[in-house]
Amino acid sequence: MASSPAPSPSTATPAKQPREHFASRLGFILISAGCAIGLGNVWRFPYIVGEYGGAAFILLYLIFLVILGLPVMVMEFAIGRASQRSCAKAFGVLQPSGRWNWFGWWSYIGCMLLMMFYTTVCGWMLAYTAKMATGTFEGLDAEGVGGVFATMLGNPTELIGWMLAVIVIGFLVCSLGLQKGVERVTKVMMVCLLGVMIILAIRAITLPGAAEGLEFYLVPDFGHMFAGGWAGFGDAVYAAMGQAFFTLSLGIGAMEVFGSRIGDAHSLTGEALRICGLDTVVAIIAGLIIFPTCFAFAVAPDQGPALVFVTLPNVFGQMPLGQLWGALFFVFMSFAALSTIIAVFENLITFTMEKWNVTRSTAIARTAVLVTVLSLPCALGFNVLAGVTVPGIGDIQSIEAFIVSNNLLPLGSLLYVIFCLSKNGWGWQNFLAAADAGSGPRFPRWAHGWLAFGLPILIIIIFIMGYVPKILLWMGMA
Ligand code: ALA
Repeated sequence: MASSPAPSPSTATPAKQPREHFASRLGFILISAGCAIGLGNVWRFPYIVGEYGGAAFILLYLIFLVILGLPVMVMEFAIGRASQRSCAKAFGVLQPSGRWNWFGWWSYIGCMLLMMFYTTVCGWMLAYTAKMATGTFEGLDAEGVGGVFATMLGNPTELIGWMLAVIVIGFLVCSLGLQKGVERVTKVMMVCLLGVMIILAIRAITLPGAAEGLEFYLVPDFGHMFAGGWAGFGDAVYAAMGQAFFTLSLGIGAMEVFGSRIGDAHSLTGEALRICGLDTVVAIIAGLIIFPTCFAFAVAPDQGPALVFVTLPNVFGQMPLGQLWGALFFVFMSFAALSTIIAVFENLITFTMEKWNVTRSTAIARTAVLVTVLSLPCALGFNVLAGVTVPGIGDIQSIEAFIVSNNLLPLGSLLYVIFCLSKNGWGWQNFLAAADAGSGPRFPRWAHGWLAFGLPILIIIIFIMGYVPKILLWMGMA
């Protein structure tokens, strides 16, 4: 991959045009963090940490966050800030030859696919908040809670109802505008999320018997990670890399649009560090809530996706004031998921406005209809369309999540790197100039070698690793 030695005149950063920006720097940081903080932090992170052996896995994950996630996040922000456009137009602005214009669609399709299953799972969080608050799980054992979950999944009306509630909340917030809706509501929600999270973590770590959970979570045990031999370690590496992309919503331009709503006051490396930091703090604290609670009530932490929806409601049921703690826990989960929903809806709306040159309200109406229709297969995939599965992947939700997590996020991130490094894209010097504008840390020059060779090789390995077990299965060899 070649790098351009100096800004080429055809791809130099264009003059800025007036555009609505965030009202404050805090707004930009909290919305970007809100886009990153979601089900990946509060649901997926704790269960994969539980599956892959606790603290040793977290160390691995943090390494990938820094070497994979951080540079790609800076690149997305830089493209947005330099072009002052969403992905609909950004690539054409920065590379006027037009050879990268198609990449805008990658972003649109990626964000839409993410929402196609995210709206349903976010709906489960709202449903569980209501069920917890109204005492639905009272007196039930784990089997009983599992029954409530299965009944909910089997009922298309209930699932679609909660999914619609999520879509209505998301678009209502966006309809209030960028500053008055998205920025104001997300700020409040993120502050509440951090507050609720701290209260829940204090409750969890002061439970009798919580110390064992803290030890599992915070003291690295590499033996555990190698319990399944090198194959087990390979699985852990694969999960850690995938989590780094998913948690930061990278490779599908979800972050790019927020770069297009800020000025040049602060360097983007500093802003990305803050956002990654917040995202990591929320993921780590989600674990501080979940693991001490599991160990205090003698529940195994390696239960996969069911941990939150089946095991924990039962655990809350055994706690004094469990209904309150349980409801607060699902409020926390719902805020995390809704912050991503609002941010990604905002991205889809901005894309639509710029691509088809329509007003914000037209873009909201079109996007809302499309998101609603396209979210239906996921909700129906648990009941009416339960027969639609792909061997080795699973139901419709798993298929959509597989397309996003195993394909669009890693390959999209690779394309961002190529765009920012290659003279056929935007070019390294143009990228550096945009990333470093303003006060704060510069993007490290020495990273060029890693980004040009190491990162692409690693991403291609992740991509192939994701397919090998599936191809073996499809060929009847596994
Ligand atoms: N970044 C979002 C999450 O972690 C997609 O859930």
